[in-house]
Amino acid sequence: MAPIDPHSFTDSSHPLTTHISLNLYFNFPSSTISSSAILTLSAPFSGELVLDTRSLSITSVIDPLTNTHLPFSLSPVIDPIKGQPLHISVSNCAKILITFCSSRDSSALQWLTPPQTFNKKFPFVYTQCQSIHARSIFPCQDTPTTRVRYNAKLNFPYQLSCVMSGKQVDRRSPLMGCGDSGFCVDEDLWCGEGRVVEEFVMEQPIPTYLFAFAVGEIGWREVGPRTKVYAESGSEILDAAAKEFAGTEDMIRVGEKLFGEYDWERFDLLVLPPSFPYGGMENPRMVFLTPTVIKGDASGAQVVAHELAHSWTGNLITNKTNDHFWLNEGFTTYAERRIVEAVQGEDIAALNIGIGWKGLVDEMERFKDNMEFTKLLTNQEGVDPDDVYSQVPYEKGFQFLWRIERQIGRPAFDEFLKKYIAAFKFQSIDTSMFLDFLKANVPGIENDIDLKTWTEGTGIPSDAMEPVSSIYTKIVSLAREFKQGRMPSEEEVVSWHGQEWELYLENLPKSVEASQVTALDCRYRLSESKDYEVKVAFLQLAIASRCSEYYNVVERTLKEVGRMKYLRPLYTALVQGTTRKEEDKIFAQRVFAEARECYHPIAQGVVESILSKHL
Ligand code: BES
Ligand code: ZN
Repeated sequence: MAPIDPHSFTDSSHPLTTHISLNLYFNFPSSTISSSAILTLSAPFSGELVLDTRSLSITSVIDPLTNTHLPFSLSPVIDPIKGQPLHISVSNCAKILITFCSSRDSSALQWLTPPQTFNKKFPFVYTQCQSIHARSIFPCQDTPTTRVRYNAKLNFPYQLSCVMSGKQVDRRSPLMGCGDSGFCVDEDLWCGEGRVVEEFVMEQPIPTYLFAFAVGEIGWREVGPRTKVYAESGSEILDAAAKEFAGTEDMIRVGEKLFGEYDWERFDLLVLPPSFPYGGMENPRMVFLTPTVIKGDASGAQVVAHELAHSWTGNLITNKTNDHFWLNEGFTTYAERRIVEAVQGEDIAALNIGIGWKGLVDEMERFKDNMEFTKLLTNQEGVDPDDVYSQVPYEKGFQFLWRIERQIGRPAFDEFLKKYIAAFKFQSIDTSMFLDFLKANVPGIENDIDLKTWTEGTGIPSDAMEPVSSIYTKIVSLAREFKQGRMPSEEEVVSWHGQEWELYLENLPKSVEASQVTALDCRYRLSESKDYEVKVAFLQLAIASRCSEYYNVVERTLKEVGRMKYLRPLYTALVQGTTRKEEDKIFAQRVFAEARECYHPIAQGVVESILSKHL
């Protein structure tokens, strides 16, 4: 008896789930889902099975083969990170039928009321399950050690439609009198007037964090042979997104050439409302994206390249637990940059490496009192993964793989990568499995690279490296000159796009004279940039430099987007440090109180934890 994952109650002595069959009935007025799930275990089990849940109420647990009720109990103690374990006494069961209901505050779900949507006519709901929120939708062994196939029937008002991280197989009226409801609600409700059922299957085994759906008024445009882009229908986003992502098929082809066949059949994209808490989420077959990536200049392709790269690294080969998260994001960041280099060229790839490098250096400062989270292999016992989300697994992971590439040369590294992916596809692995594979396939590598320092050491290893590129070097040195009061000339910035400005702003000193901030903005109008990366980097500088005239823009920004990449630094800049003015903290609290209900629950939690740490 031992836990297999610091973020799950799943026990090593229990068989793992291999399949989940779900029925979901959406109650929009109460923001809840009444559901049933049949979990299939890898082998019959007798004893007390433990599943992860959070914010669920359980109605019944049944052995579907004998149709007998099984004794169950939800632990009265709620773990603040892992949630509430569900104990079920089973005897020789390989299938378990559970009926249950989510609650208004299930952490994976954001429910948008009609006024919060684009057309303002119908509600909208969507999921974000990574890292440990699937358990707030259905009871499961919510650890990426397990891989499950699923099918799902979703019942909602007929005016709406659904997309999922799976293949749609049907859309029809609910069927009467044949157990179509799967007992999640009674048949009268299930077949009630104005309802529709959509059915999906996921035939490939995936970790539970990749379970995803969105239900609302959703339309689509075709952008490639295996790609449609979906978004709220009627919004101008659809056309803009179709343009922005026109190059997706080229990127898939590059990915296939570098990493092997694309195994998921379709690569569709869903652009969510602005409250989506991430830039992108690699839900298989249906990547979820923030609308802030659509900037009209094809730079959103970088985020798509990243989520696409996860099709090989992360979704095909998954980290066993979050302690090994770098295997997901480090490999994906490396793969993303290889795709970007192939389609947009070496200079753009170098800019991205440079922005990542600065991000990594800044994280060392953030974690200076908690160096554990500057390691690749971490110990996350007792730690909420949303609290320690950082650039470290992405950028230190990238640096490690880039270091290996430099050691053995690109052709050999490319061959190694292909072999690695083919060897471990559809498996969940840990850091030592990767290192063993590396040592077996690149004999002697441990004599050239200090693998232990890279994976277990804190900080940035001395053989990590900044990119070599004349544009990168030029921008970083221009940023240094700002300290002496020199602003870049119009001529110097004429060819700059968002990424160049982002790199420039992030390399400026943390704070400068307020007059310098306004002078820079007068000349280049950065506070009005349509590119949130630029705007937020500028606003961070403005807050740190005490430029109060920008606080109205800060407020507007915090109220129009819910992407945590922007919320985190802005709220942190407002409240961090002992010298922060009281007014700034009050301002941050007021804005959060007013914006809160527009944020996804995960973002609400993250902002709450930032404010509570500093107030
Ligand atoms: N899988 C991540 C998002 C994530 C990580 C969600 C951890 C929940 C927990 C996704 O692939 C990602 O990394 N998104 C980035 C995109 C960027 C690196 C291009 C983001 O959201 O900023
Ligand atoms: Zn990622």
